[in-house]
Amino acid sequence: MSPKISLTRYLVEEQRKDGAIPAQLRLLLEVVARACKSISLAVNKGALGGVLGVSEASSENIQGEIQKKLDIIANDVLIEANEWGGHLAAMASEEMEGIHVVPNRYPQGEYLLLFDPLDGSSNIDVNVSIGTIFSVLKKPEGAGVSEQDFLQAGAKQVAAGYCIYGPQTTLVLTVGNGVSLFTLDREQGSFVLTQRDLSIPEDTKEFAINMSNMRHWDEPVKRYIDECLQGKEGPRGKDFNMRWIASMVADVHRILTRGGVFLYPWDKREPNKPGKLRLMYEANPMGWIVEQAGGAASTGRERILDLQPKQLHERVSVILGSKNEVERAASYFTPV
Ligand code: AHG
Ligand code: MN
Ligand code: MN
Ligand code: MN
Repeated sequence: MSPKISLTRYLVEEQRKDGAIPAQLRLLLEVVARACKSISLAVNKGALGGVLGVSEASSENIQGEIQKKLDIIANDVLIEANEWGGHLAAMASEEMEGIHVVPNRYPQGEYLLLFDPLDGSSNIDVNVSIGTIFSVLKKPEGAGVSEQDFLQAGAKQVAAGYCIYGPQTTLVLTVGNGVSLFTLDREQGSFVLTQRDLSIPEDTKEFAINMSNMRHWDEPVKRYIDECLQGKEGPRGKDFNMRWIASMVADVHRILTRGGVFLYPWDKREPNKPGKLRLMYEANPMGWIVEQAGGAASTGRERILDLQPKQLHERVSVILGSKNEVERAASYFTPV
């Protein structure tokens, strides 16, 4: 029986390898993992922990969403866990308008942490898998830290990951040399390496999109989905299956595990926004993870990780998953 490799041992061994993980980054990732463990405990308590439902004040976040109790709990856990360690200069979150700079009483580090503390909030009260998504950037040289420092393309990430709170609590992580998967061993209280070098099948017969928005989609998306729906009698020559969990972490985890394509495209409900999902702490980390597993992540017109952000909470149109299927979907956007 091979020894269980903990997240700590994995990170130490990766650090020894090619310095892909400097000590401060290793510390950061371990702290984030511990924070996800705390969030998992809160999530698993459900009604017994009084964590379900909307926040006391029914407060609204910068996105215009009514915050759930767990949105705020998860955000607070991540802030509290990360501000004293000396590895971070500042944090940004779906649930906070501006950045949270590490207080002066703590040393400032060289990294910036961004997160969606609780992804899939609409699934909290119906006991469906939810998660936490995080992205790590290097703070640009120079004194102090500002929101501008966060506005870096996804290709600049030094680490990205998510933790899915489902039947298992699983941490999925990349630091740029493939994607590894760690399952929480509740008896030990530690994340154990359960899969290295995940690889997404290049083709698929499964698409994920919220079909109720069909009448609002752009023509290319309508044509692409319509051809999938025509099945083997149609131009695709194969039948497709459809899944939509409405927790990006769960849909992406399925795609990492067995392939698929996930779409949240622009639609005319909010014509001035490129899409619903947020670039900095949803599309960029998930896009990098998918690329590191051999998949692709596109807006339909360009690679998501190449986008130069202009605002912390900007939205983006997302098509990600099995490489050949993403390329096929993107081809519908190219004028013939
Ligand atoms: P969040 O809960 O962090 O606001 O994110 C929800 C996102 C994403 O997780 C999911 O894929 C999508 O919203 C679902 O959107 P619909 O409810 O419109 O299907
Ligand atoms: Mn939200
Ligand atoms: Mn989200
Ligand atoms: Mn969220």
